[in-house]
Amino acid sequence: MRSISVDLDYGSYPIIVGTGIVERLGDHLPEKGKIAVISTPIINDLYRELIESTGRDYELIEVPDGEDAKTWETVEEVLGKLLEYGLDRKSTVVALGGGTVGDLAGFVASIYMRGIDVVQIPTTLLAMVDSSIGGKTAVNHPKGKNLVGSFHQPSKVIIDTLFLESLPEREVRSGLAETVKYGIISDKGLFEILEGTSIEDKEPQTMVEIIARCAAIKARYVEQDERDNKGIRASLNYGHTTGHSIENLSKHEVNHGEGVAIGMSVAALIAEEMSLLDNEMRARQEALLLKIGLPTKVPDLEIAEVVEVMHMDKKAEDGRIRFVLPTGIGKEPVLRYLSEEVIASALRELQ
Ligand SMILES: NC(=O)c1ccc[n+]([C@@H]2O[C@H](COP(=O)([O-])OP(=O)(O)OC[C@H]3O[C@@H](n4cnc5c(N)ncnc54)[C@H](O)[C@@H]3O)[C@@H](O)[C@H]2O)c1
Ligand SMILES: [Zn+2]
Repeated sequence: MRSISVDLDYGSYPIIVGTGIVERLGDHLPEKGKIAVISTPIINDLYRELIESTGRDYELIEVPDGEDAKTWETVEEVLGKLLEYGLDRKSTVVALGGGTVGDLAGFVASIYMRGIDVVQIPTTLLAMVDSSIGGKTAVNHPKGKNLVGSFHQPSKVIIDTLFLESLPEREVRSGLAETVKYGIISDKGLFEILEGTSIEDKEPQTMVEIIARCAAIKARYVEQDERDNKGIRASLNYGHTTGHSIENLSKHEVNHGEGVAIGMSVAALIAEEMSLLDNEMRARQEALLLKIGLPTKVPDLEIAEVVEVMHMDKKAEDGRIRFVLPTGIGKEPVLRYLSEEVIASALRELQ
């Protein structure tokens, strides 16, 4: 089992990573106070018995699967149940699920009685390496995704690779795109582990190592820029500007990790053309993405529209679009404002 600490001015917390930790979940939750576990029917079907066998009493609140959990109506419903079950300021909310459950449960915990503790137990790879760490919570608004939310750091993050066994392959690959991202922006050793292992096996020891390294990187970025207002966390958006645009335009036929993989390929090509990255590094990134089974080519979309949607992304400024450009494997990337022409030409080259 690995433990990583997130050290913040107000409240530090541990991220524990291992296999089978939830079998002794009781040891990891506060001894006193009520517990409400927020989860989805799918996760409950798979893991309810396991969680119950740990012997800690809890109230279970089911929310809809996927983005349907991140609505204002669900917030109201969950708040109502917490009141009904008598949770007070000393109680704890446990978010058991993917990033959608984590975002919703974190948000609810942040406003219930002006804020109570939340323990994040991510069950998707994406949530393990990204969304469960860092305290960003959100629900969606009819006008857009993640437009309503708060910062509310968890009191603990419990990452158990056991959950990966039931996670659909495509979700695993999607999460792996984020692990490649971390390798490129910050950890050459991690990149080499990813290159050297057959990840389909989801061998627990290897997954613990990969996830712990990613969690540690995310933790360091969060420590330096807790509220994401210093521009430091921007590196974590490597591949995301293009990725979000393609994800949206494809109506989510291209999922998040796939979009990020394509976005990293576009950014690496631009970086190479600007002499920030050498060709060999770009080839290694591409080879790794392909090995994982992720796309590196831009799908059949109107390039002008892909650029247009990037503009609407909050990262666009003054008609130019902010890009995170890689400078090597495991090396801090640079931020550059790029013209539409430069971006469109790279997108075309990769289509
Ligand atoms: N707060 C943050 O910092 C942050 C960062 C990145 C993403 N996000 C948010 O995270 C969300 C995406 O999260 P996600 O990719 O985890 O999606 P998700 O929560 O929708 O989960 C994906 C699918 O996997 C299923 N699933 C989850 N765990 C499983 C398991 N162990 N076995 C079988 N099936 C399982 C779910 O039922 C769901 O259908 C988005 O809403 C995004 O905005 C937040
Ligand atoms: Zn992402």
